[in-house]
Amino acid sequence: RRVPASLIETIRGLPGKGHPMDALQVSVAALGMYRNPNSTPEQDCIHLLAAMPVLIAAFHRARIGAAHVEPDPELGHAANFLWMMNGEKPAELAAQVLDVALVLHADHTMNASTFAGRVVGATEADAYTTIASAIGALTGPLHGGANERVLNSLEAIGSVDDVEAWFAAKLAKRDKVMGFGHRVYSVKDPRATAIQGLVRRLFEELGSTPLYDVAKRLEEEVTKHLGAKGIYPNVDFFSGIVYQKLGIPTDQFTPVFALARTAGWLAHWREQMSDNRLFRPGQIYTGKREREMIAIEDR
Ligand code: COA
Repeated sequence: RRVPASLIETIRGLPGKGHPMDALQVSVAALGMYRNPNSTPEQDCIHLLAAMPVLIAAFHRARIGAAHVEPDPELGHAANFLWMMNGEKPAELAAQVLDVALVLHADHTMNASTFAGRVVGATEADAYTTIASAIGALTGPLHGGANERVLNSLEAIGSVDDVEAWFAAKLAKRDKVMGFGHRVYSVKDPRATAIQGLVRRLFEELGSTPLYDVAKRLEEEVTKHLGAKGIYPNVDFFSGIVYQKLGIPTDQFTPVFALARTAGWLAHWREQMSDNRLFRPGQIYTGKREREMIAIEDR
């Protein structure tokens, strides 16, 4: 899990007000600069998986003015991440819940970031560059960036009584509601249902949060109006509530998604490289076919 001390220094020197996803993309690309040229693809994959929590936590600790926490080899992947983020050994339930959330996010067929990674990997770029590119694609609000925005929306709504008016305003403007809709699912995303189960387990031990009631009311309202269009909660809808309960700050939700998805990205990278061909899609030109050429001196 250890990464070079000079890389930790570089990460700690990044602007603390910047977004953690940008920091993560920079950190993964920089980690690739330390790559041993003789390492095998398997070794690169293991190194990336192991280093991801270290990179995320290194930036987080720096921006809150806290000392870097070294990884603990006694802890599992999820528990070590929480330890490095918070500087405290996590409760067993917290580590278990994060572990399940990581599994639920680990892979999901040809989503945008996985595709981005496969396109870059197919150029025979190395694993670090491939993962840095996938992180870039995951940043956008239509993809991984949605989980952070869901929590912002729930906080902006504030209370169960305000859900109806908030949603009516969104509907009137034809704005999208973050955490709903999916290119593949026209039903409630099964991962959302599984994450809701985690929310309940956490609440039994750590107490509830009013945001969950707002979320359930919003699900009712969106389903009532948009269910017929196949718009239901996706994986991002309840995940933020879980992460918040684990003490993870809102703008670190997408990096946690990246932490999980690194497993899937790397598996796709390996599969791509096992029978690689460069992606080079064709284009269909829909512009004007013939245009008059006006000589420069006549323009
Ligand atoms: N809120 C409100 N309406 C939504 C919606 C949402 N979250 N998602 C889709 N719709 C509506 C669109 O307005 C569109 O309506 P129209 O046919 O009347 O114009 C219709 O459903 C199809 O939407 P479209 O954006 O074309 O579907 P898509 O398959 O391209 O989009 C997403 C899939 C995920 C990009 C889209 O659902 C979305 O933007 N969701 C919010 C962001 C999010 O949660 N992303 C995480 C995905 S896991």
